[in-house]
This record gives sequence, C-alpha cells and structure tokens, in this order.
Amino acid sequence: MTREHPDETGDIVRTPVLDAAAVETLLAAAVAAPSIHNTQPWRFRMDPDTWTLEIRTAPERSLPLTDPEGRAQHVSVGAAVFNLRLAAARLGRRPQVRLLPDPGRPELLATLHLTGPAVPDTDHAREPDLYGAIARRHTSRLPFTGRPVPEPVVAAMTGAAHTEGARMQVPDIIETRRLLRLTAVAETRNHAHPARTAETRTWINAPAAHSPYGIPLAALGPPDAAGRMPVRDFTGPLPAPRLPALRFERHAQVGLLWTAHDRPEDWLRAGQALQRVLLTATAHGVRTSMLHQAMEWPDLRAAMSGPRRRCRPQLLIRFGYGPDGGRTPRASGEAATT
Ligand SMILES: Cc1cc2nc3c(=O)[nH]c(=O)nc-3n(C[C@H](O)[C@H](O)[C@H](O)COP(=O)(O)O)c2cc1C
Repeated sequence: MTREHPDETGDIVRTPVLDAAAVETLLAAAVAAPSIHNTQPWRFRMDPDTWTLEIRTAPERSLPLTDPEGRAQHVSVGAAVFNLRLAAARLGRRPQVRLLPDPGRPELLATLHLTGPAVPDTDHAREPDLYGAIARRHTSRLPFTGRPVPEPVVAAMTGAAHTEGARMQVPDIIETRRLLRLTAVAETRNHAHPARTAETRTWINAPAAHSPYGIPLAALGPPDAAGRMPVRDFTGPLPAPRLPALRFERHAQVGLLWTAHDRPEDWLRAGQALQRVLLTATAHGVRTSMLHQAMEWPDLRAAMSGPRRRCRPQLLIRFGYGPDGGRTPRASGEAATT
C-alpha cells in the first residue's frame, strides 16, 4: 500500500504506508533506551496522516525529589529518541527530529517525522552497527577488569558525544578521583535523606514482582570493598538481600558528559549523545554504567564542572571491560502508546 503526499518541494510523491511491523520496530527500539531508575518516562503516539511519531513525557513516572526539574527525565527521553532515529534508518526512512516543537505543549518533548527513503550514508560502512547494539546494551554495575579501554575506542565514544552536540571528557586519574569523590558525597547525602531514599527504593523490584518498570534486585551491583567506587545504593538502610562487597577496578575509566547550555532541549540532546556513546561502547565490546548522584545536588553538580568553561554536567559514565549487566524489564512499545 502507498500513500500520496507532497514532499519538501511541493511535488506529490508516493510513500509506502508504515505497517504495524514497522511501528513495532520503532517502538521496540525506543523502549530499550536506558532511563533513570528504569522509569521509562515516555509515551508515544503515531499520527499515520503526517507520518509523525509524538514523544511525550509520562508525568506519573517522574521523580519529584531526585529529579525536580525533570532534567534526568529529558535525558532518558533523549536516549529513546536516538534509538528511534536508528530504527527509522534501519527501516530505510530518513528521520527528521524536532525537539520541543510546540511551546504550548511542554509535555511534547519531540516529534520524529519519517520522511522519504534514507540517503545512502557514505560514512556508514566505517561506523559500528549502533542499531544492532541497542538490544545488547545493558547497564553493568559489576566490577570491571581494569584493562584500559584503548584510546581509539575512547576517541570513538567522545566523538559520538560530539556528533550529537554534547561533549564527553575523559579525565586523568586525579580529576577522575575528584569526580568520584563528589559522587561519593552525593551518595552520602542521599543516604541521609530518608524521603529521597524512599523514592528511589520504590523503583526497586523484589524477585517475585513482575512490574515492567523499575530495576530488579538482580540487576543491582555489589558495593566496592575498597570504598573507591561510589555505586548507587538503591535500597538504603532497610533490609534487602545484598551482594557481598567486591573490589572494583583500581583506576576507573569515566567520561563526564556535558552540554554548553542547560535548557530542556540541551537535556534532550544530552540524552541522544548519551545513547550514541553507550551504543558505540557496546558495539566495541565495552560495558558501561552511570553515576548520576552528583547531578542531583546543585552545588555538587556545579563542582563537577571544575575548570571547564561553559560546562553543564549531565552524567558521569563509567566504562570498561567486564561482565554483562543483569537485564531490566520494559513495558512494551504498545503499552507505551496512547
Ligand atoms: C539519566 C540517567 C541516570 C542514571 N543514573 C544511574 C545511577 O546513578 N546509577 C545507576 O546504577 N544507574 C543509573 N542509570 C541507569 C538506569 O538505572 C538504567 O538505564 C535502567 O535501570 C535500565 O537498565 P538498562 O540500562 O540495563 O537497560 C541512569 C540512567 C539514566 C538515563
């Protein structure tokens, strides 16, 4: 089946109708994105007439204490938008994304318009298969081996952030320690804040729970026996089965993801950059996890920027070689559609 519609120049063109399998491909890619506490704060609506997918927030899955401005929520939705772009290209369509297209509808974070056939990308052959990496990427909160990720792979990851209009800086050992210390301070503050701990804990699922949202206990990692790696304690002081402490890599490799501005569209760009970085790492066999705690306290977030000019920190990404992370569930693309 085809549909007639005007192209950018006003000429009438015939485009094949997007079938149910194609919509499913798009949504399956979108919902595989990482999101803070696996809240999956997105909703989708396909408008078959305009070939436009609307991507909106799911306000009922926000984190009022951890993320009062909705910044992390935007970053998460941005990651889903990046997956949608890859899936659209996989379907042979050219994705046209507009961020925050309607000031009167702030909950509408982006639209993805599937335009005509994808233009063959001459650079494509040299790029890793990012679409193929979507299903293989998992957050790994386990200790890494300590084998350094080689410079060309690190350069591909920083280049990925740059391509999406963000920056990822991989600091030296001294600066890495400083960033981890700030993250540890945030972790201590979170611990001392019972309401925040309670909010986080509501997103952790017991083994018997079958919620498609939140993080199963099995996907959480151990604490660092040496106390150097400030992994997030999602369960707080309440009783919960815990993994015994293990030694993490001595010299962590981290990347500070940042943008030059701090508006909602920058957060959405940061999310697309985040996902491009994570998928590039995955395509090279590199594991990743995220340390967001310092971003949740304004003074610590400001301190994370250090001497970098015009640096609005968005996320600290830890990367290295090691075991795959446990799987987290997802609500289906259909369930996320309204
Ligand atoms: C903005 C953002 C912040 C995150 N912060 C943390 C964090 O501080 N600690 C952590 O272990 N995981 C963090 N994550 C990872 C999510 O918990 C993870 O993406 C989610 O549980 C889904 O699991 P998956 O990445 O394995 O698909 C964050 C993810 C995003 C997008």
